[in-house]
Amino acid sequence: MSTTKHHDDNLPRIFPHDFLWGTATASYQIEGAVEVDGRRPSIWDTYSRQPGAIRNGDTGDIACDHYHRMNEDLDLMRELGVGSYRFSVAWPRIQPDGKGPANQAGLDFYRRLVNGLRDRDIEPTLTLYHWDLPQALEDEGGWCVRDTAERFAEYVDLVARSLGTDVERWITLNEPWCSAWLGYGSGRHAPGVQDIGKAVAANHHLLLAHGLAVPILRSAVPSAKVGITLNLGVHRPGTDHADDVAAARRADGNLNRLFLDPIFHGHYPEDMLEHYETNQPGFSVIQAGDLEIISPPLDFLGVNYYFPGTVMDAKRISEARVAGYGVPLGEQFPDLRVLSLETPGIDTTSMGWEVDASGLTELLVRIKKEYTDLPIYITENGAAFDDYVDPNNYVLDHNRVAYLQEHISAVHDAIDAGVNVQGYFVWSLLDNFEWSFGYSRRFGIVWVDFPSGDRLPKASFEWYRETIRSNSVVYARSVGTE
Ligand code: FCB
Repeated sequence: MSTTKHHDDNLPRIFPHDFLWGTATASYQIEGAVEVDGRRPSIWDTYSRQPGAIRNGDTGDIACDHYHRMNEDLDLMRELGVGSYRFSVAWPRIQPDGKGPANQAGLDFYRRLVNGLRDRDIEPTLTLYHWDLPQALEDEGGWCVRDTAERFAEYVDLVARSLGTDVERWITLNEPWCSAWLGYGSGRHAPGVQDIGKAVAANHHLLLAHGLAVPILRSAVPSAKVGITLNLGVHRPGTDHADDVAAARRADGNLNRLFLDPIFHGHYPEDMLEHYETNQPGFSVIQAGDLEIISPPLDFLGVNYYFPGTVMDAKRISEARVAGYGVPLGEQFPDLRVLSLETPGIDTTSMGWEVDASGLTELLVRIKKEYTDLPIYITENGAAFDDYVDPNNYVLDHNRVAYLQEHISAVHDAIDAGVNVQGYFVWSLLDNFEWSFGYSRRFGIVWVDFPSGDRLPKASFEWYRETIRSNSVVYARSVGTE
C-alpha cells in the first residue's frame, strides 16, 4: 500500500545536510527539586503519592536531579554532538498556582538552561506542556474545564516573553492524547480520573489551549517556529474481517484523527463525534469559533512514535486465538470495543511494545498524504530495555542500538518516499521517571544510577554520537564490538 521505495542496504543512508539531530526529556521526569525556588505541586506530584498509582511508590521528587546537575547534562549533550535539545518547561515553576505573575526564580532556571545550550551551540526546542499541570488548576476542574485553556495561554505568554529572544522552536503540547485519555479516561496517568465524557472534554480543551497559544507565541516571538507534538500510531486489523477493520478505524479515530483532523482540517471526525455522542460533557463543551482557533497555520508537526498495534473487535476474542494471536492485551477503553493483540514472534521492549519500525514509515507517509506537507520532526522515539552496568562499568545496550538503527532507517525511508522529515530526537537523554512505571523502565542513552545520581553514557550514546557525526545511519556491527 505504501509508496515507500526500498532502500538498497548496500548504500549508506545519508541524511539531508541540515537534518536536525536531537535528544529529548521532560521536566517532571528529570528535574526533581519539586519544592525548590517556589515551585508548587503539579498533578504528578499529587498522583504519584496515591498508593498503588506508580510502580514501587516512586515519585519525581528527586528524579535525575537535573535541576542541580544541569551543567553536567549540558556537557553530555555537547559530547553527544546534538544540534538540538528538546526539554519542557514546568508550568508550576513559572506559575506555582497556575495563574498570576511569573515566578522569577522559575524563569531563571530555564534561562540558565537556554543560555547553557546556546553556549554549546545546541538549539533549544521548548515544549510548553509535558503533563505537569499545576495542581491548583486541577482543583478547579483541570483540562475538563475551558478556563484551563485560557490559563495556559497566559502562562505561554509569560514564558515566550521571557525566553523568546533565544528560543526559536516552540512546541505547545506534548501528546495531548495522553493528557486527555490516560489522565481522564483510563486514569493511568495523573490526575487519575476514569470518565470517558471528561476525557473528550479534556481532549477539546487541550486542543483549544494549543490553538490559543499559537498567536500568542507569534506575537511575543515573531521569528518563532511553532508546532505541536502528537503521539500517533498505526493500527493494523488482526484479520480482514469487516469488524476488525472497523475496530482498527475506531482506534485510529481515537488516537490519531481526534487530533489531526481538527488541527489540519478544522473539524472533528464524524465517526468520533457520533461515537462519543452520549458521553457527557464530551463534545458539548465545543463553542462557536473553537475549531477556527484550534486550526491556525503551524510551522511544523512533532511526531512521537514508539510501536504499531494490531487490533480486533472485542467481541471476536475467540477468533483472535484462532487467528494465531496470543492472549489479547486487553481493552484500554472499553467503549471503543478494541482488543490489542500481541503478534507472536515479534520482539518487544521492556514496556511490552512491539519493535516494528515499518510502522513509522507508514505513519509518516500517511501524514503527508492525508494531512500536511509541513516539516515533521520526530520529537520522540526510543526504547526501554533491562539495561545493566557490567563489571567493566559499561552498559552494552545492543538492543537499543538496534532499535534506534531500525527506526532512524525508517525515517530515512520516509524521506526517500518524499516526506518532509527535518529532524529526529531520541527519547531519552537520561534514564528517568517513566510515569506510572516509575524508575523501573530505562529509556536513556545515558544510564542514571538513581541512588547516587551518577551518569554513565551507554553504548547507544556512542552509537548515536557516531550517527550524528556521520549524518547517516551507522550499522551496529561497527560500534561497540571492537
Ligand atoms: C511518551 C512521553 C514521554 C516518555 C515516552 C516513553 O509518551 O511523551 O514522556 O514517557 O513516552
